[in-house]
Amino acid sequence: MEKLLILTGAGISAESGLGTFRDRDGIWSRYDLNAVATPEGFAHNPLLVHEFYDARRAASRAAQPNAAHHALARLEREFPGEVLIVTQNVDDLHERGGSRRVLHMHGSLEGALCAECGHRWPAPAVMLASVPCPVCSASRIRPDIVWFGEYPYHMEEIWQALRQADVFVAIGTSGTVYPAAAFAQDAARAGAWCLELNAEASATAPDFDALRLGPATRLVPDWVNEVLTHGTAGKQPG
Ligand code: APR
Repeated sequence: MEKLLILTGAGISAESGLGTFRDRDGIWSRYDLNAVATPEGFAHNPLLVHEFYDARRAASRAAQPNAAHHALARLEREFPGEVLIVTQNVDDLHERGGSRRVLHMHGSLEGALCAECGHRWPAPAVMLASVPCPVCSASRIRPDIVWFGEYPYHMEEIWQALRQADVFVAIGTSGTVYPAAAFAQDAARAGAWCLELNAEASATAPDFDALRLGPATRLVPDWVNEVLTHGTAGKQPG
């Protein structure tokens, strides 16, 4: 049974209108990531951090899954092997596009986390520092997002999937943030064939066996059609 492991980044949601981080006019060109995406930034100014993620949560909820999200859901439904999506994205467009096996290694805008007791619950639209935790009543609610300097979620399951993957595909990620930036090397070392689908070659392009350039809404449906036609995702032309 062929195992496909798919890593997605902000580029797969770009055509749904959600910004990427490092493209021209990207999120990190408009916000200081140290102020809004680190534990220190949250401790220093929680209101600014809540405003940042409330705005991204609203944009995520207003966005629609695009053809790339829908194509991956079709792949999961129709491919005779295993399909697992590991996403760096915190939007829920994969799930709303129909995918069921999705691991959010950087957390989710739809999650609230109590910084006091660790309780998790569905995020309110607007996350005010004064919202008490339903379990411990502390007023230390935070977005359930993995910030820089924090450890990504689901890593044991991801390392295992990287060891077992027959094919590893990275879609719309710049390959600049670890540990995700090393996944292609990890998968290749375990014998996987690696394909990158991106609008432009990423920093990790040399780690891949093949590279296809273009918008995700064209590349991903085309690739899924090929895989379902051939019944395999391995060793295809770049
Ligand atoms: N189709 C395909 N790829 C695209 C498209 C598109 N329409 N638009 C942009 N891209 C690609 C860019 O070429 C780039 O390689 O998406 C990638 C976006 O890179 P980043 O903005 O760095 O996003 P990402 O790789 O997901 O960032 C990783 O960094 O800031 C942290 O936690 C954050 O999860 C994020 C992580």
